Amino acid sequence: MAEEPELDVLLSTELTFPPPSGFVAGAGWSDPAVYERAAADPEAWWAGWAEELEWIEPWHTVLDWSDPPHAKWFEGGKLNVSANCLDRHVAAGRGGKVAFHWEAEDADQAGPEGRRVITYDWLLDQTQRFANVLKGLGVGKGDVVGIFMPMIPETAVAMLACARIGAVHNVVFGGFSASSLKERMEVSTAKALVTADATLRRGAPMPMKEKVDGVLPDLPDLEHVVVVNRCGTGCAMLDGRDIDWQEAVAAADPVCVPEPMDAEDPLYILYTSGSTAKPKGIVHTTGGYLTQVAATHRMVFDLKDDDVYWCAADIGWVTGHSYIVYGPLANGTTSVMYEGAPDYPGKDRWWQIIERYRVSILYTAPTVIRSFMKWGEALLAGHDLSSLRLLGSVGEPINPRAWLWYHEHIGGGRCPIVDTWWQTETGAIMISPLPGITTTKPGSATLPLPGIKAAIMDESDEMIEEGGGTLVLTTPWPAMARTLYGEPERYIETYWSRYGNDVYLVGDAARIDEDGYVWIVGRIDDVINVSGHRLSTMEVESALVSNEGVAEAAVIGVPDDATGQAIVAFITPQDGVEAGDGFTIALREHVAEKIGKLARPKRIYFADDLPKTRSGKIMRRLLRDIADGKELGDVSTLRDPSVVDSLAGQVKASGGR
Ligand code: WTA
Repeated sequence: MAEEPELDVLLSTELTFPPPSGFVAGAGWSDPAVYERAAADPEAWWAGWAEELEWIEPWHTVLDWSDPPHAKWFEGGKLNVSANCLDRHVAAGRGGKVAFHWEAEDADQAGPEGRRVITYDWLLDQTQRFANVLKGLGVGKGDVVGIFMPMIPETAVAMLACARIGAVHNVVFGGFSASSLKERMEVSTAKALVTADATLRRGAPMPMKEKVDGVLPDLPDLEHVVVVNRCGTGCAMLDGRDIDWQEAVAAADPVCVPEPMDAEDPLYILYTSGSTAKPKGIVHTTGGYLTQVAATHRMVFDLKDDDVYWCAADIGWVTGHSYIVYGPLANGTTSVMYEGAPDYPGKDRWWQIIERYRVSILYTAPTVIRSFMKWGEALLAGHDLSSLRLLGSVGEPINPRAWLWYHEHIGGGRCPIVDTWWQTETGAIMISPLPGITTTKPGSATLPLPGIKAAIMDESDEMIEEGGGTLVLTTPWPAMARTLYGEPERYIETYWSRYGNDVYLVGDAARIDEDGYVWIVGRIDDVINVSGHRLSTMEVESALVSNEGVAEAAVIGVPDDATGQAIVAFITPQDGVEAGDGFTIALREHVAEKIGKLARPKRIYFADDLPKTRSGKIMRRLLRDIADGKELGDVSTLRDPSVVDSLAGQVKASGGR
């Protein structure tokens, strides 16, 4: 293990990959002048992209940045996102085009329902019907609708139906616990919730509606639950409150005129982790968001009309919102949507899918690539991946070894890789290669896209041309978050105060090299990135201390071969509680219940006290060194230096990482 990071560094400094000449020849963007053109007049650049959309009323002002950090894009303009994603394609005679090739996890056993061909015609019909169902439940413009769903086409329909009537969706990743769901519904005062009876995971139905039922008594504002029957589990339904999706949609009026929305009206809220235990409700709006997701989806993936595009994220994360639903549908793309686990029933499931649908663009996360690396190349044998022409990565830094494996084994050495850096807050891709222009360096997200400006600040708050520091964005962009739901002050404090109210603090540490390439190093706040999923240390700590056996907890992120970072917890048990394997298991289970399985600590260490300064502050840096098995320097300033030995001993005994 110790040698691998060094190998990565070595690889990253030596290798460069110019775009293959064959790719450049067919690429939509192959002239680097596009960067200068956008930089010369960013507003004209973005307005050009906005014009590609269908507006009900034109905007009068491209950008109002007179009151930073409050940006207004395309003010005066009116449009509807669902009309842009559906109606205009159907009106252009493209209704028969496939929007999604949906593959069920149990596709081989499920008969025709296991592989559904979802056309634009079908999506528009279902969206209008479901929009009318929502209206019938009293949901209107500005109301919040929760969506807690598996990876099925109805999830996209639910989102688009909200957009059609101006309701604001709040999607909660289906792997979150009931209490995380409850918190997100509560703080957003959701009026209705769309869910499914269950989701299929590794062959077995995992109940979803049941989870919802457990928290409904605590959610007085939530009046209705619409339930898609995915697994036929026959979940309990309460008369008057719970509605069967299939029945309601079949009975609904098939016509719903799209609501004209202001460009700055909210489209959705999506909760993400921040530095405190309380998740942040990122608010995205309509005109600027759709403009930038459509533009970046087309440019970064060099989209062609006949591409078969597969973004393998879950719709519950921002990647799914922007690059499964809104970007691709705005562009009239044919996508693949796969319901289940990558290793079910076999570890070559993905390669079967790529072969079956002739996928040409694959967009996934480094953590998945590293799993495939671990499972080995043998699984690729016999699968024809020659349809692939472009690969994408997102969610965390991709280490050069994984990059090279992806390039060689999945991309056959011929596909450019776009390592796309962005965040829930940015809404759309910000730093990424353009595959027909940019020479890539494995491990670097390369350069800000045309129209985007990023910079690195050093310790003395100076912008630097080369070296390491803090990543910032120095100009507004159309898809930027507009606020935190219900917490406008926190929005300004978190992102727009460190360097003034017109410089966006990203929260990532990064390095800029002699070519101006950006290398993301990691987070500067207390956010841990596990398999590309953001979790805050405080969130996990408060879940742990809510267990009655825990007196105190400190949580850190440590590097992990498979998941990028892993969660390590240091616990002081309550007096009389036995710290052993049983308690470790119980605590992991407890965190799964409080937040979700993704937040379970990988390792837990126990001590009578945590390493603290005399003033009582937990020394996290020291905890990191302990977890890393590093030589510890002077610990005499600690209140109780002996706890360090005890913890270091446990780390050693467990074999460390
Ligand atoms: C990290 C996911 C390096 C980064 C779209 C960021 C990345 C956080 C990359 C946002 C990348 C995302 N290279 N790091 N290509 N993409 N990150 O909000 O730390 O779930 O701040 O959005 O993931 O995570 P989020």
